Amino acid sequence: MGSPRIDSTAASGQTPIQVLVLGTGIAGLSAALKFAHKGCQVLLISKTNKEEGSTRYAQGGIASVWSKKDSFEEHKKDTQVAGAGLCHEDIVDLCVHEGPERVRELIELGVAFTKIRLADEADRFSLHREGGHGHRRILHADDLTGWAVEKALLERVAETPQITVMENHVAVDLITEGKVIRKHGRPGRCLGAYVLNAQSGEVLTLSADITVLATGGAGKVYLYTSNPDVATGDGVAMAYRAGARVANMEFIQFHPTCLYHPSARTFLITEALRGEGAVLKTAAGEEFMSRHHPLASLAPRDIVARAIDIEMKRSGDKHVFLDCTHFVAEDLKKKFPHIHQTCLQYGIDITSQPIPVVPAAHYICGGVRVDADALTSIAGLYAIGEVACTGLHGANRLASNSLLEAVVFAHRAVEHSSSLLAQQAQSPATALHYPPRLPQWDVGDAVPLEEQIDIAANWLEIRHLMWNYVGIVRSNRRLKRAQRRLELLKAEVNEYYWNYLLTKDLIELRNILTVAELIVKSALLRKESRGLHFTVDYPRTDDEGFRHDTIL
Ligand code: FAD
Ligand code: SIN
Repeated sequence: MGSPRIDSTAASGQTPIQVLVLGTGIAGLSAALKFAHKGCQVLLISKTNKEEGSTRYAQGGIASVWSKKDSFEEHKKDTQVAGAGLCHEDIVDLCVHEGPERVRELIELGVAFTKIRLADEADRFSLHREGGHGHRRILHADDLTGWAVEKALLERVAETPQITVMENHVAVDLITEGKVIRKHGRPGRCLGAYVLNAQSGEVLTLSADITVLATGGAGKVYLYTSNPDVATGDGVAMAYRAGARVANMEFIQFHPTCLYHPSARTFLITEALRGEGAVLKTAAGEEFMSRHHPLASLAPRDIVARAIDIEMKRSGDKHVFLDCTHFVAEDLKKKFPHIHQTCLQYGIDITSQPIPVVPAAHYICGGVRVDADALTSIAGLYAIGEVACTGLHGANRLASNSLLEAVVFAHRAVEHSSSLLAQQAQSPATALHYPPRLPQWDVGDAVPLEEQIDIAANWLEIRHLMWNYVGIVRSNRRLKRAQRRLELLKAEVNEYYWNYLLTKDLIELRNILTVAELIVKSALLRKESRGLHFTVDYPRTDDEGFRHDTIL
């Protein structure tokens, strides 16, 4: 389809690109490979180095119906129970049904999921179980699944000549027809993106037929998070500014068990460990989860995170413990080698000592609203992976359903958009891509920012206030306080944005502020408690008033 249209001039500006994919995690890489397979030319952009993103840190694995003992109905039911009444049934259905095929493709692409050999049987894939899952259905590569996926996909991308990768390039804003051509107030079609070369400081104008947002999550909006530094919600903020619909931003998932250690960056302790029998305990050694839920330590994440929050507030302790000292030591080391080694570096031998853990912001269930083909409300703009809100997760994501969602929707986005590109190739008169030249980024009177200190201070302030006022347990008073403070910060951040030349930090600061505002606004709109949104002012679920998505 089409002739190669990316050359060195693409990176410097106006050569039209067929497909521009922002993000090199599981979503972006899967889509890029599939577009290339269809004959498209793809430009793949990564904010820092191409490996960096949440994908590489995923531990537990990818959920998919794989065993004869399991069924699509059971996976659907578990997803919906976790989603607390807000999952879109059609989306759950298609994701669960298409999952095994997408997982098979990952295996064909070289992802080495762990296999086991049982007596007198051929090797088969090892299946883990995590919170909220009624069956073992999580394929994994030891406890480093994300790295196995990222590595295999990057290797395939490197072998694919139709894909060009640009690292250290930060998308700044989407370019829409409404903004640059016909300023009629509606977004119109997406025409590409402005992208900062983080090394040279130049802002490129990238014009594309199809733009795919695969920019991942927004954990860095919170002080404590399992997410890497790149997770600043850029895709949601850009799409919102461009006029796209954004949904369910109040549903922030806190992972219950991140390592608590003064000198550790937040390190996740996979839920699969609880799936194998690890037990949550207080500092006094008391098992407490069975007081909160019949599934005890394997209850859905929202319940476990809230229970830990309650226990920590009650006792005044800074953490609780995850105990796996009753495991056979050799089994534990074999099944969870990465966790064993990492904890050892911090002086904790998990075979003989309980692990100190705390909850941390982990996943955003909301995002850019898309349809079943991953199309946003802006023509030509698709959103896949954590940046998107497909309707799969509802008010709370079932563990290991996000890698699944990313591959299912990457596939769907490619199927949908490449048929449009094919029509264009056959009849150039219906060309999707216009106009040939877009306005260049205008720096106006902006000057270089000499001191980074204000950026860092504002960033920290946002993350602190989100943690303190918009965390696991919310109230009207705290949400309103957060809203007032964000309003003040907005004026300052806008001043930097317009007066100084762009840097990666400045772009990220502006985006985390936007995302924080969207979270607070959505949380204030939901006057009930449901899934991941719990407020002391409306502790009950109100199906009559609020069994619907929050759309901004
Ligand atoms: P990411 O993998 O986060 O990639 C985002 C990409 O976008 C990066 O390349 C980044 O550079 C780029 N980017 C961002 N902003 C810009 C910009 N402005 N310009 C250019 N590029 C940009 N889910 C599961 O299903 N199973 C698990 O076991 C699991 N474990 C997890 C463990 C951890 C520690 C974490 C943090 C998450 C885990 N999750 C898990 C969630 C899952 O890993 C993520 O939801 C998923 O990997 C997101 O993939 P993605 O492709 O959407 O984004
Ligand atoms: C984990 O391994 O506990 C994380 C799984 C997920 O976030 O889906």
